[in-house]
Amino acid sequence: MTVQIDHALEEIRRFRPSPEFAAQAVADDGLYEAAKADRVGFWADRARELLTWEKPFTRTLDWSNPPFAKWFDDGELNVAVNCLDRHVEAGLGDRVAIHFEGEPGDSRDITYAELTDEVKRAANVLEGLGVGEGDRVAIYLPMIPEAVVSMLAVARIGAIHSVVFGGFSSDSLASRIDDAEAKLVITADGGYRKGRVFPLKPTVDEAISKSAGSVEKVLVVKRTGNEVGVEAGRDVWWHDTVAGASGEHAPKAFGAEHPLFILYTSGTTGKPKGVVHSSGGYLTQAAFTHKNVFDLHPETDVYWCTADVGWITGHSYVVYGPLANAATQVLYEGTPDTPHPGRWWEIVEKYKVSILYTAPTAIRSFMKLGRQIPHQFNLRSLRLLGSVGEPINPEAWIWYRHVIGGGSIPVVDTWWQTETGAIMISALPGITDLKPGSAQVPIPGISIDILSDDGTPVEGEDGGLLVITEPWPSMLRGIWGDPERFKETYWEKFGDKYFAGDGARRDEDGDIWLLGRVDDVMNVSGHRLSTAEIESSLVAHPWTAEAAVVGATDETTGQAVVAFVILKQSQAEAAQADTAAASEELRKHVATQIGAIARPRQVFIVNELPKTRSGKIMRRLLRDLAEGRQIGDTTTLADTSIMQIISEQVK
Ligand code: PRX
Repeated sequence: MTVQIDHALEEIRRFRPSPEFAAQAVADDGLYEAAKADRVGFWADRARELLTWEKPFTRTLDWSNPPFAKWFDDGELNVAVNCLDRHVEAGLGDRVAIHFEGEPGDSRDITYAELTDEVKRAANVLEGLGVGEGDRVAIYLPMIPEAVVSMLAVARIGAIHSVVFGGFSSDSLASRIDDAEAKLVITADGGYRKGRVFPLKPTVDEAISKSAGSVEKVLVVKRTGNEVGVEAGRDVWWHDTVAGASGEHAPKAFGAEHPLFILYTSGTTGKPKGVVHSSGGYLTQAAFTHKNVFDLHPETDVYWCTADVGWITGHSYVVYGPLANAATQVLYEGTPDTPHPGRWWEIVEKYKVSILYTAPTAIRSFMKLGRQIPHQFNLRSLRLLGSVGEPINPEAWIWYRHVIGGGSIPVVDTWWQTETGAIMISALPGITDLKPGSAQVPIPGISIDILSDDGTPVEGEDGGLLVITEPWPSMLRGIWGDPERFKETYWEKFGDKYFAGDGARRDEDGDIWLLGRVDDVMNVSGHRLSTAEIESSLVAHPWTAEAAVVGATDETTGQAVVAFVILKQSQAEAAQADTAAASEELRKHVATQIGAIARPRQVFIVNELPKTRSGKIMRRLLRDLAEGRQIGDTTTLADTSIMQIISEQVK
């Protein structure tokens, strides 16, 4: 496990919070002091302050059986009530919860009262379809209000959702349905993307036909009106059921440790992991970070997180954090450039968005298009910008602050993961002096360290492996159905410390810089992909004998998938004659098997792969090649001339 820290990170720019911002900031220094004085007590105070408990907890943290943590475990609450009913009861029913903007331009404002009503109806429908406490529901929907309603309706009845990103293939959906043994799938006829209808229902039908048979019912939202097959006895339309259902639904309270959702994410092996999150601890940290990191003033702010609900960012910062905090937010269905490249900025202007949370890859794409596009719109409503998903390079940070933010508003770079459930490292706006490119400091109540490979803490200005040294409320509670994998993946390396899989460096001020993954996980446009998963997809193609995949640095997407494939002898001749066609076929194959996000940028057909004497593929050398760098040290290769041969072929 090596961490590359050879590229010097010399960033000397610092930005003090403006006195006006600091004067009205939500966060204050007292949070750090309180957490330092009593970390566990600090979280108990946050849980009481931010959430409404049906039965108050008396125990804050049980860490008697690490790595299995329990937070607030004798307390009971209903997560959906915390996101909805209690706001209506507090007189906020008329506040807009969601400004929905469809890609074709249709729009709809949904108040907290309306959203609560819809969730209650949907909860009644789910129960009518036989879904109960602890049952799993797969959600495969576009970014439409029904996605939020579905998640909250599942939570309301104590079932467990597993949202699958709409871009995933039927195979990926089927394996997720099977792993969680989902009883119900909620989907739509289709969604709008890049000006076209992308059908979802046929993918669900295909996935169910490939799966092991746990699915009993499919609930289908009509979004696009395209023709879809309906299987009698199994498929039910949302509009036929939810609209007519009763709006009365008495919520039950569930234990704080009751699983709220499973979310699959890529790891170092071929099989995605079902990360399990809890109710009370998860919601506490999602709400706390959403409020303090984004400086949320819910009465006046319009918040917009551009992530899809298919990813953890959409769970914590589109659904649970903002709704627990009674925020008003924008939900946008489509892509940033449809029907024109200024679409996002048009939305910011239309809804007077004040807080924007997005990924560096999007910012870099906009940088390429030039400032004249955002400059056509009035972006003066913005007062805070956030970044997530991958390291943000200082140039992109500065561009974001200046061109989008007008030059003086805070930009917070937030580090966290599917597994951490909520933000772990970030500046707090109004308090922290900002430093472009660095995620900076752990949030109050979070303990982070940087260790060398042998587990000794790295002192002073140096780099190593990022760990979380104490349990935190929104930590994953495990991997669905696989406690051993949970222990092995995160806890084996450093015993009682959580190993995040990221390299990091501390600078002279003590600020943390994230240096990317140190394992075989890639980060493409802020999406996590596993080299092993793409390799096994390539090897599953009848032409492929062997495959190696690397994440190569890419100017826009952060990393890009680059594959090196050896074809089977029987295929070699024909394909050798037309390697372009062979690599196109393999690129398509991966997109069909996993999803378009996994499609390799390049597939190189080669005759050899660089291997050590023990037969391990040296991906480091392939990465050098893919990034057009001088090939590194080849002395441990079984045949040191191999890289020369492969380089010739790749040319
Ligand atoms: O490598 C880190 C990177 O994204 C990984 C987590 O991916 P995922 O579980 O899909 O969650 C993404 C959204 C929270 C991390 O291990 N990452 C995430 N945020 C940052 C980051 N790397 C650097 N800086 C960040 N702000």
